[in-house]
Amino acid sequence: MLQCRFSILSGLFLAEVFFFFFGSAEEGLEFPNFDGKDRVLDINERNYKKAVRRFELLCLFYHEPVPNHKGLQKRLQMTELVLELTAQVLENKDIGFGMVDAQRDFKVAQKLGLVEVGSLYVFKDDRIIEFDGELSADTLVEFLLDVLEDPVEMIKNAMEIRAFERMEEDIRLIGYFKGEDSYFKAFREASEHFQPYIKFFATFDKSVAKHLSLKMNQVNFYEPFMEEPAVLPGRPLTELDIVDFVTQHRRATLRKLRAENMFETWEDDMDGIHIVAFAEEEDPDGYEFLEILKDVARDNTNNPELSIVWIDPDDFPLLTTYWEKTFNLDLFRPQIGVVNVTDADSVWLDMSNDEDLPTAEELEDWIEDVLSGRVNTEDDDGGFGDDEEEEEEEEEHQGYDREEDRGERRDQYEDED
Ligand SMILES: *[C@@H]1O[C@H](CO)[C@@H](O)[C@H](O)[C@H]1NC(C)=O
Repeated sequence: MLQCRFSILSGLFLAEVFFFFFGSAEEGLEFPNFDGKDRVLDINERNYKKAVRRFELLCLFYHEPVPNHKGLQKRLQMTELVLELTAQVLENKDIGFGMVDAQRDFKVAQKLGLVEVGSLYVFKDDRIIEFDGELSADTLVEFLLDVLEDPVEMIKNAMEIRAFERMEEDIRLIGYFKGEDSYFKAFREASEHFQPYIKFFATFDKSVAKHLSLKMNQVNFYEPFMEEPAVLPGRPLTELDIVDFVTQHRRATLRKLRAENMFETWEDDMDGIHIVAFAEEEDPDGYEFLEILKDVARDNTNNPELSIVWIDPDDFPLLTTYWEKTFNLDLFRPQIGVVNVTDADSVWLDMSNDEDLPTAEELEDWIEDVLSGRVNTEDDDGGFGDDEEEEEEEEEHQGYDREEDRGERRDQYEDED
């Protein structure tokens, strides 16, 4: 009897323990937490050669010497933690991670070809790929998985064609070749120069080629948001032909800012400025504005002077308040403006009073004013007696008049008294 009661109780107890461990938290959504295991190597003279040989990919963060300041040390530790977490998540892939100190390991850095302090470099085969994106574990994991893949993706059927055609935000190339052992080799070599930033596709399939109007050994280049591809001149093409063409055409008329290469995009400015458009694709106004921008980009795709950087604030939650403050903007609405990349000075198209968004024509007029310099970030930067600043003077007068009015009114009251 006693025995029996005991077993019932212990059974209940076990059930409770079981519930506690496995029932209270549901499985299936467990974010990785750093498990404390050290996976990031401290790269130095003795171990760097081995590290390069040992992994399929080696990912090295080239950092400034460890600072004395406690807070700054923490910042470096946070970066290291991003690498640790990335290493942990990708543990079953053949990727090595390491830190290279710009002072202590300067010689190693030189031998490896690391140039920019604060940058992350990925070694794959005999290539070095610089990561120019947001240094977060999410972005880095995605980037490294892309680099691990083959640089050319094969298109084999109608479903894959449809997926290819939907990728309108990406720069894409596609070529039609006889097989692995053909001019495909040059195409593949070319693709390695741009992996993972520019997507290369190929097909050996006649019906896929027909659907995409590709002749044998032809390569097409798709600019983001354009409906028709450009055909690379010449057939067959050498690696150099393709690399040259892509290098010349990679700055798109409308390009989306992305976490994976945001710094590269930002550094590729147009004589010190960017035309920046903020639009949330999921917001009705943002969506409409984006459609107008696409029309403008399609109309002006042959203008090499023009490139608009589209930023969807939804993609950059950590930067939204910073942008609102720096540019003095409301990012709940679509915006377009000119930003000076030297001092972040900016001017924005006034769309606040209109119920309607600007038309494509109005936007094109404004862009023309930007490209000709009539609209620029410098005119409102102060200085007295500048005759060209008519608009600003008018505003000043208005302000002055308003003050005068007030003064007069006060005088009137004084008179009445
Ligand atoms: C950008 O700002 C810098 C510093 O204020 C200035 O020297 C430069 O002329 C500006 N560039 C353009 C294109 O307005």
